[in-house]
Amino acid sequence: MKGKRAKQKGAETQTVLITGASGFVGENLAHRFAGEAELLLAYGKQKPRARAEKAIAVDLSVRNDFTRAVEDLDVDTVIHTAAMVSPDLCERNSTEAHAVNVEGTREIALWAEERGARMIYFSTDLVFDGEKGEYAEEDAPGPLNLYGRTKLDGEEQVEKNCTRWAIVRLALSYGTTRGARGDWTLSMRRALGAGKTLTLYTDQFRSPAYVGDTAEAIFRLARSRANGIYHMGGRERISRHGFALKFCRLFGLDEQRFVPVLMEDVQMDAPRAADCSLDTQKLTREIGLTPCEVEQGLARQKVEEEALANADGSPARD
Ligand SMILES: NC(=O)c1ccc[n+]([C@@H]2O[C@H](COP(=O)([O-])OP(=O)(O)OC[C@H]3O[C@@H](n4cnc5c(N)ncnc54)[C@H](OP(=O)(O)O)[C@@H]3O)[C@@H](O)[C@H]2O)c1
Repeated sequence: MKGKRAKQKGAETQTVLITGASGFVGENLAHRFAGEAELLLAYGKQKPRARAEKAIAVDLSVRNDFTRAVEDLDVDTVIHTAAMVSPDLCERNSTEAHAVNVEGTREIALWAEERGARMIYFSTDLVFDGEKGEYAEEDAPGPLNLYGRTKLDGEEQVEKNCTRWAIVRLALSYGTTRGARGDWTLSMRRALGAGKTLTLYTDQFRSPAYVGDTAEAIFRLARSRANGIYHMGGRERISRHGFALKFCRLFGLDEQRFVPVLMEDVQMDAPRAADCSLDTQKLTREIGLTPCEVEQGLARQKVEEEALANADGSPARD
């Protein structure tokens, strides 16, 4: 086991490395762990906004770049969020998607194991084919697109190579943007702000996860000894279009510019699943977190964004 140094910190203080720390989820995780852990951040091209002991650039598409960059680090927990996340981009660049999402995850899993660290890996609801909906952890996966396939292969790398691990299958996410990369509510607002009309599926269902809940769930999982797969979604199953209407009403946007469409009406590079909603009862049972419904999550997002805007003197994001 490499790199275990004598630590000058309290017994309860963990050293936590977050990969993808410049991403939407990564920045929110860093925000939750701030002041509660020694924080190390790994990012790709954009430096994270969050403060940390160290921020390190890594390229997971290049073999051993991660291992070389973090060679001297000693950590208790690695939270691996970095990924190529666009299903269409994965479909068009399958070699890179495999390198980042599968080989990159394998490299991190081996590195974590060598240090005796616990690994928490972010997977996706898109490991399912969407035929059934309300998926529980023991349901059989069957991804329809390459993104889902590579994330599932990443899960196998974690299970195979790590002794202490948790896999968190995350649902479509929304919430406060804290860094350079936003969620899809930010994309919607930008598109509406630019005067565009948006087409949204009425027949694609998910259980959208409020990122503040996700950050809290990971914070608790990092402290627990629980090994296994966990589904992290919101408490509500809803279509993309249904979500967007709630978003518009709460944020005072013009819902007339949303055009309801069926998935079959839109040409996409990557096939999309119809109903990848998640059953999150295991998470509630084991770590005591009950995820919120969409309106509650959006209300929390609104309060957080207003507080952020007041703190940095800029107007709330639009
Ligand atoms: N957001 C969702 O709705 C959602 C839903 C289900 C599952 N997930 C999973 O949750 C995790 C986080 O997603 P997210 O929404 O936070 O994604 P995101 O905002 O797009 O961020 C992706 C992160 O990965 C990093 N990254 C990408 N390619 C890299 C490479 N070659 N080397 C090193 N770092 C690289 C990016 O770094 P730079 O920006 O610095 O280049 C960024 O920090 C992912 O594993 C995703 O599969 C997300």
